[in-house]
Amino acid sequence: MCGIVGYVGEHAAGTKPLEVALEGLRRLEYRGYDSAGVALVGAGLGQVATRKKAGKLVNLVAELEENPLPPATAAIGHTRWATHGAPNDVNAHPHVAGKVAVIHNGIVENFAQLKAELADDGARFRSETDTEVVAHLLERAYARTGDLTAALREVAQRLEGTFTILAVHADEPQKVVGARHDSPLVVGLGEGENFLGSDVAAFIAHTREALELGQDQVVTITPDSVTVTDFDGSVVEPRRFTVDWDAAAAEKGGFASFMDKEIHDQPHAVADTLLGRTDLSGALVLDEIRIPEAVLRSVDKIVVVACGTAAYAGHVAKYAIEHWCRIPVEVELAHEFRYRDPVVNEKTLVVAVSQSGETMDTLMAVRHAREQGSKVLAICNTHGSTIPRESDAVLYTHAGPEVAVASTKAFLGQITAAYLLGLYLAQLRGNKFPDEVAELLGQLREVPAKIQQVLDGAEHVREVARSMREVSSVLFLGRHVGFPVALEGALKLKELAYIHAEGFAAGELKHGPIALIEEGQPVFVIVPSPRGRDSLHSKVVSNIQEIRARGARTLVIAEEGDSDVLPYADEVFFVPQVPTLLAPLLTTVPLQIFACELATAKGLDVDQPRNLAKSVTVE
Ligand code: G6P
Repeated sequence: MCGIVGYVGEHAAGTKPLEVALEGLRRLEYRGYDSAGVALVGAGLGQVATRKKAGKLVNLVAELEENPLPPATAAIGHTRWATHGAPNDVNAHPHVAGKVAVIHNGIVENFAQLKAELADDGARFRSETDTEVVAHLLERAYARTGDLTAALREVAQRLEGTFTILAVHADEPQKVVGARHDSPLVVGLGEGENFLGSDVAAFIAHTREALELGQDQVVTITPDSVTVTDFDGSVVEPRRFTVDWDAAAAEKGGFASFMDKEIHDQPHAVADTLLGRTDLSGALVLDEIRIPEAVLRSVDKIVVVACGTAAYAGHVAKYAIEHWCRIPVEVELAHEFRYRDPVVNEKTLVVAVSQSGETMDTLMAVRHAREQGSKVLAICNTHGSTIPRESDAVLYTHAGPEVAVASTKAFLGQITAAYLLGLYLAQLRGNKFPDEVAELLGQLREVPAKIQQVLDGAEHVREVARSMREVSSVLFLGRHVGFPVALEGALKLKELAYIHAEGFAAGELKHGPIALIEEGQPVFVIVPSPRGRDSLHSKVVSNIQEIRARGARTLVIAEEGDSDVLPYADEVFFVPQVPTLLAPLLTTVPLQIFACELATAKGLDVDQPRNLAKSVTVE
C-alpha cells in the first residue's frame, strides 16, 4: 500500500537519481497506482524539484517528458494507494513545505490536530492529505535543528498511526532520510550509492545487499554511509541480508502479464519451497523454525491468521494439519482475530500466513497473539519484511517475487509450506512414522511436474474463459480441500474480471445457494478424487447433478480418469492424480488461468486491478 523509493549517489549531479526512482516505482507499482511522483535535490538547485501526477506511473513519465527535471544527486519517489484525499494531482506525493519534500506510506491518525496547530502557526496547505502535515512539521523542525535526521526523529515522535516517511531537503542534497513505524522500509547497499525502498524490489536492479530496519527507527543514507538510530537517536545495528532472487525474476519474461508469468512460475514456486528441507536420512529439517521442540510438542491448538488468498491457504493447512497431526486448527481472518478477544495462550501456535509480510491486519494479529503468550510462526514470501521479523519463527516460501496484485504462485507456495509444517509437526510429535513422512514428501515432490501438465493442457480452459466474456455471475463449489479452492477461484474472478463470483462448500448448496441456480448459470465444481475419502466423491457428483437438473452450466475440475463426472459436465478440465490433501496445488491452477484469460478477454489490466493494492499496510 503505497510504494516508496529513495536514492542517493556520489556522482556529480546527473540523471541517475531520477532513473533509479522511476525504475523503483515501476517495480513497486503493485503497491498502489492512484498516483505517482518524484522529488529531486542537487547541489545548486536551491529548491526541491518535484513532478507528480494522478493515475498510473505512465502518466508521471509523460509529464516528465513534457516538463523534464534538472540533474540531481538524490531522489525520492512514491506510488500511491489513496487513503486521505482523492487520487488527484494535488494529493499525489511528494508534498513540499519550504525546502523539504516528503513521501509517506501509512496513515497519520492525529493529523487533524497537527494540521490545526500548524495552521494557527501560519502554515498553508495545498492538499487534503495527512502527509502534508509531516512536510510542514519537518520544515519547522529543520529550522530549529539544522539537521534533517534530527528533524525527522523529532517529527516521528509526534506522529500517531502508521508510517514510513522519506524526506529530502534542498540544502542537504547528498542525503535521504527515512523513518518507520508499523510500515515497511528496507535499505539497499550500493558502492558510492545507497537506496531505500518499501521492499527490495525497489532497488533489486542495482543491488541485492540489504538491511532490515526495525520498528521505530530512523535511517540516513548518503552516498557512502548508512546510519540507523531509534527515535531517541541511539545508534542501532540493523540485520544485513542478501536477496536470493535477481531483477530478471521480477520481469515478465516474455509473458503478456505478470499474472500470466506468475501462474506459469508455479512449478518452480512449489519445487523451490520444498528444496533443501530434508536431511540425508530423508527426515524433514526446518532450520528456520526456531521454536523449541518441547514447545511444539506441547501445542494443543493452532490458529492460522491471514487475509485474502493467504487465508484460503490457511484453510487448506487446517485440513492437512488436523489430519496428519491431530491438533485442532482454527483459521481466522486476521482483522477479526484481534478484536474478538480470542482464546490463545502459551499452548497455542499461531501461524501467520502472508506473501508480503507487511499486511497490517496480519501484523496486528501477530502482535496480539504474542502478547497472549503464544508462539507465532510466519509463513512468508518476503525477506526483510515485518511479520517474519516480529514472529518467533519463519518458514519462507520460495515463490520468488510476486508482482501481479492478485496472488497466484505465492498461494501455492503457502500451501506447500503449510504441508511442510504439518509433516514436520507430525514427525516431531510422533503422529507419523519417518517412512510415512518420506512417502508424503515424495508425493509432494512429484507435484511440480503435474502442475506443469495442467499448464501445458490449459488451452481448453482459456477457450471456455474467452467464450464467457459476457457472464455476470459465476459460482464455485468444492468440498473438503476443494472448498478453499472454490473460495480462491471466486476471489480470483472478482479481483481480475470484476465479475460477481461466490464460492460455497458443496454440501451447503442445499441450505440456500441452490436458489441462485437458474438456466445457464455457470458453476465451477471442484471434484475430489474418486480414490479419496469414502463417499466424498459421490456426494460432489450428486451435487453436480442437482445443479445441472436446475439448469446450471457445469464446469467441472476432476481427476484424470474420473469418468463418473462426464455425463453431468458441460465442460470438464482434468488434472493429474495426487493424494486428496495435495489436490489444491493442482485444482487451483485452471481457476487462476480462467480468471486471467477472462479478464484479459474483457480488456482489463490483470496485473493491477482497480481499487486493489498488493500489500495492504493500513488496517
Ligand atoms: C491483498 C492482496 C491479496 C492478498 C492479501 C494478503 O488483499 O490484494 O492478493 O492475498 O492482501 O496479502 P499478504 O501479503 O498478507 O499475503
